Amino acid sequence: MREILKLENVWVGNQEVKILRDINFEVKEREILSIVGESGCGKSLTLRTIIKLLPKNLKLLEGKIYFEEKDITEFQDMEKIRGKKIGMIFQEPSSYLNPLFTIGNQIEEAIKNGKDRKNKKDRVFKILEEMGLSKNVYYQYPHQLSGGMQQRAMIAMAIINNPYLLLADEPTTALDITTAFGIVNLLKNLVNIHNMSIIFVTHDISLASFISDKIIVMYAGIIVEKGNAELIYNNPFHPYTKKLINCLPEKYQKGERIKVIDGEVPTYKNLPKGCPFNPRCEYKIEICEKKLPEEIALENRDVRCFKYGKIMES
Ligand SMILES: Nc1ncnc2c1ncn2[C@@H]1O[C@H](COP(=O)(O)OP(=O)(O)OP(=O)(O)O)[C@@H](O)[C@H]1O
Ligand code: SF4
Ligand SMILES: [Mg+2]
Repeated sequence: MREILKLENVWVGNQEVKILRDINFEVKEREILSIVGESGCGKSLTLRTIIKLLPKNLKLLEGKIYFEEKDITEFQDMEKIRGKKIGMIFQEPSSYLNPLFTIGNQIEEAIKNGKDRKNKKDRVFKILEEMGLSKNVYYQYPHQLSGGMQQRAMIAMAIINNPYLLLADEPTTALDITTAFGIVNLLKNLVNIHNMSIIFVTHDISLASFISDKIIVMYAGIIVEKGNAELIYNNPFHPYTKKLINCLPEKYQKGERIKVIDGEVPTYKNLPKGCPFNPRCEYKIEICEKKLPEEIALENRDVRCFKYGKIMES
């Protein structure tokens, strides 16, 4: 399968803080990859790094980004890629949909290569139908739609130009579980219909395992475990992944007390030395407080943990 995206040894931050550290992963053609982890672990920044929309005070410090096997690390003309070859659904659709314009108008505006007004309108009707929305939605304003319908309108806008890659930042987080599954099934279908790859960001590792081929688990700006989604969900190796899965409500019987992960996610200015998970880890050994573990390849996954692996300078 052709490689659509690759991040190699990517570090993001500034002189004061390093937020993303040594990020490595790839996405192949028609593959769905999920990024999971607690709030603040760097999921959105990873997506923003790919499309070069980082906050002004942060930059790519090191590493390479390849899109369609071409090095785009230094590529300046991102307008040629963003919205055309890479579609993006930003977190919180309500802040990205303009309340003053109809949905049809906003999707039309996103079309980069439409011929004329009539042609654009026909394309919008077609995509609305594909999203499971009625023609009527074309004439409606965002506040007239439910959260799930707004999310479908956002997906329509992101894929109207037939991108090779769709970045979807928490498209299901604010939705009830049935509506969330509707969105997830829609995204899965898009892979086949549009020959598209997807990076799907979520807090929910069980939803991630349902939708994706591969999972990346992030903690405090590093990838702690990545690989085959089903294998990781059914048999996690990294202590953080294990805890994330053990905290899922579906793992408990009625009346049983749900465990939470003790301790807090560290702030980037005060990251613990060595493995950032060490203050919360029951398997901690001396080296964990001194060095950052390297990624080590094991049974269809890579794991960054001294229980399994090597030492790297932090
Ligand atoms: N402009 C910035 N300057 C400094 N630090 C920042 C900036 N933007 C984000 N961060 C830091 O980077 C961390 C990761 O942010 P990011 O938005 O990627 O988290 P996330 O995993 O998407 O979280 P959530 O699940 O809440 O959306 C944040 O915790 C924040 O501390
Ligand atoms: S490297 Fe050490 S502290 Fe970090 S997860 Fe592994 S055992 Fe725990
Ligand atoms: Mg985010």
